[in-house]
Amino acid sequence: MHCHINPKRVLGSIDPKIYGHFLEHFHRQVYGGVFDPSSRFADEDGFRSDVMEALRSIRVPILRWPGGCFVSAYHWKKAVGPKRTPVYDKAWRVEDPNTFGTDEYILLCRKLGCEPYICTNAGTGSPEEMSDWVEYCNLEHEGEFARWRIENGHPEPYRVKYWSIGNENYGFWEIGAKQTGEWSRFVTESAKMMHHVTPDLQLSAASLDDPDWNLKLLQHAGDHLSWLSIHQYWDALNDVYNPSSYEGAMGMTALLDEKIQKIRGTLLMLGLHDRIKIAFDEWNLRSWHHPNSLRDLDKALVREDYLPARNNNDRNATYTTADSVFAACFLNTCIRNCDLVRMANFAPAVNTTGVLFTHADGIVKRSTYYVFLLLANRMGEQAVDLWTEDAPVETIGGTQIPLLDLTAAIRTRDGALTISAANKHDCQPQELVLHPGCHEGTRAVLHCITGDSKDAYNDIGREQVSIHTQNLSMEGGILRVTLPPHSANLIEILCD
Ligand code: AHR
Repeated sequence: MHCHINPKRVLGSIDPKIYGHFLEHFHRQVYGGVFDPSSRFADEDGFRSDVMEALRSIRVPILRWPGGCFVSAYHWKKAVGPKRTPVYDKAWRVEDPNTFGTDEYILLCRKLGCEPYICTNAGTGSPEEMSDWVEYCNLEHEGEFARWRIENGHPEPYRVKYWSIGNENYGFWEIGAKQTGEWSRFVTESAKMMHHVTPDLQLSAASLDDPDWNLKLLQHAGDHLSWLSIHQYWDALNDVYNPSSYEGAMGMTALLDEKIQKIRGTLLMLGLHDRIKIAFDEWNLRSWHHPNSLRDLDKALVREDYLPARNNNDRNATYTTADSVFAACFLNTCIRNCDLVRMANFAPAVNTTGVLFTHADGIVKRSTYYVFLLLANRMGEQAVDLWTEDAPVETIGGTQIPLLDLTAAIRTRDGALTISAANKHDCQPQELVLHPGCHEGTRAVLHCITGDSKDAYNDIGREQVSIHTQNLSMEGGILRVTLPPHSANLIEILCD
């Protein structure tokens, strides 16, 4: 396949927030994930230093917390101060000790050097509880809740800029789910109170690619919103743990921008596309496994049945090159839509289906970790246009899909032309001929994420998927590169 790049035709700036992450109070993401005071890796604040180092290496730009469905019955006031009230988590039906609350979360963000992004309780919560939380985080010293923060030993405001009103409140499974009209009014009243505390907050609200839900939300609350929050998981493992095959996962790449384009249409119709952006703030190829804990409650399993089932998420063999190739294709989709998708949060960062898996003796960097390690560190920031000739297509997983998925961007720090290129084929390499246009690169480097087979994966004491780097030479101003099968690649064309 020939790929012609036009470095002069800039599609837009790529917001680094598309490489964001999410942590929920679910199973071992927080307790036993990032926060584990009993671990031999714990630092002075109880955070796992090995996890901190790995997350800093992928330059997490923004971290969404504390949920997810968990948040829709969460009351933040019980998790600040010297006396923490353990509560029964009605979403995931376990006790939460509340030893990890707002102060610990902000400290985590400071350790990672990332922006906090707090999702509020629009299920059983109220506009007042949300705005009280903004007071606690953002006011210098005015009022009861800023004083709480000061009394808790944090004199400086946290200056949390990004806040989400609710999580999937459209879904019957969500605690405190709401109807369309009810939702737009609730968001409006919540946003008003939150903005009365900190006028320049950037607010998102739970939204859908359903025009009826979004139209009412945008018509009534659009003036208060900077973001629409959308979520998607493609391989549905919620109730039955049967991870899709490599081929099935590749077939799902045909559906990557479906929601984005529907929301783009609604925003364009309302003339809001310049001001309101998409926060794709939960995404992953694979959804989390938690049978019946939220859905089909008439068939709800007893706790003893579904609590152990969560351990299925810890099967590292699930997360193969399908996950890394899919993640690269999703991030390429964000790059192609960089005018609109300005934030995305991998769900989640640690344990469950996350990029990292923790165990007593260390961590496992799953295949998706390396996609973030490459793109968050090496992909350029100015997306540029490209077009292809003879693009190979093939029917995989029952769907006809292009075998190669590419985006290109100029890296401002050194002028390099960077290309994110995924080869979805399960066993055949693909020949790529890059025509870099007027870019004056003289040499190139290929960083390739793959393993010996499509089902390669990483586990404790096993590293089958990692990054392999190879120097390439330009010939006559073009670059010929062979992309291995089931691989996610980052090509740098460098100027001397
Ligand atoms: O499976 C985890 C859940 O997926 C999150 O808590 C929720 O936001 C989404 O439905």
